[in-house]
Amino acid sequence: MSNRRQEIRFGVIGLGLMGREFASAAARWCHLLDLDFVPRITAICDTNTKLFGWFESNFDSINLKTTDYHDLLNSSSVDAIYCAVPHNLHEQFYTDIIRAGKHLLGEKPFGIDLAANERILNVIEANPNVLVACSSEFPFYPGARRVIQYINEARFGKIIEVSAGLLHSSDLDPNKKINWKRMVDINGEYGCMGDLGLHPLHIPLRAGWMPSRVYAALSKIVTQRPNASGELVPCNTWDNATLSCDVQIGDQHFPLTIQTYRIAPGETNTWYIRILGTAFSVEYSTKYPKTLRTMAYQSSREQAWQTVDLGYETAYPTITGSIFEFGFPDSILQMWAAFCDELAHGRSGMQQPFYCATPEETHRHHRILTAALESHTQQQVVTLS
Ligand SMILES: NC(=O)c1ccc[n+]([C@@H]2O[C@H](COP(=O)([O-])OP(=O)(O)OC[C@H]3O[C@@H](n4cnc5c(N)ncnc54)[C@H](O)[C@@H]3O)[C@@H](O)[C@H]2O)c1
Repeated sequence: MSNRRQEIRFGVIGLGLMGREFASAAARWCHLLDLDFVPRITAICDTNTKLFGWFESNFDSINLKTTDYHDLLNSSSVDAIYCAVPHNLHEQFYTDIIRAGKHLLGEKPFGIDLAANERILNVIEANPNVLVACSSEFPFYPGARRVIQYINEARFGKIIEVSAGLLHSSDLDPNKKINWKRMVDINGEYGCMGDLGLHPLHIPLRAGWMPSRVYAALSKIVTQRPNASGELVPCNTWDNATLSCDVQIGDQHFPLTIQTYRIAPGETNTWYIRILGTAFSVEYSTKYPKTLRTMAYQSSREQAWQTVDLGYETAYPTITGSIFEFGFPDSILQMWAAFCDELAHGRSGMQQPFYCATPEETHRHHRILTAALESHTQQQVVTLS
């Protein structure tokens, strides 16, 4: 079997939270069934050399470890790169990777701001032979896949409203130490929106629901935090954002509400989407990861929401029994399979139709987040052309 599989040799830049999550997905590629491609981690890079040990002890395929990412770009044993570094480094790293002819699965927000994102897109345009995509895994959850299916089937009738969000709670703790994600110069002016915004926007943008107008309510709730030595320092990033958007698509005109909260009491990485329509409605949240709620409306019939327990329904088949539960590492594995599938077969030849978030989708999300900042500054609705 392995002889017939196309090996895609990956370098990982940024070996932190996400770098390890990705590598772990490679380590259990055997979970996936009948794929004719397989990733191999051949090179790793981080300025923090203490992070090398976990990788080296788990991957004997690594032949290059370095603190300088250029070494990966110059390596003939690297075909593609997963890059998970702080936002202020995205532009330089991503454009260098693409210019070096390496395929790239980058992380959101794909540039610290709109200008950086546009410079990345310019380099992508000049290098059309390189596949570039952005990591966004939630659409691979079984419940999210059902939502996408219903959108594709145009089940909703007239859409009444759409809301989606990503909610965290750990920043409720004022004693949580500050890190780069709470520093404007490294994380970016978007704050929580840059960190979390692509997740709730991915499916609406894939559906073509680009807002025409945005009004943003942004809040800073914890304004100072202890640094590594315990001294209180300013924490200037936005903690929470609610974007009230208008979507106008053909004869459909509906509100789209996007919540990105770092301080949502009790929530641990809760991703949700709810679409209400005149004919059909659906609601899915990773808070109850098996539970899908739907309601089909029939005139003069009682209105009743249905609840169904979803099993392990995946884009790419796996060894897991269909009644078992799906979780975050599974969504990373599925997303990575989609990236490798597109790399191996082209978008039109993929085994299933849902491809990873595109650079163009990251650009649309940057336009929305930039409009949100402007809306907050001006305290008014901002129109997107
Ligand atoms: N898809 C998701 O669900 C998800 C979740 C969390 C974070 N992210 C994104 O992933 C990216 C990384 O976030 P993280 O949570 O893994 O951060 P992290 O801080 O855990 O890891 C970042 C790593 O980059 C390394 N680094 C910093 N400067 C470097 C340099 N010059 N060269 C090489 N390595 C360098 C750091 O040492 C660190 O190990 C961000 O873009 C973030 O928004 C995505």
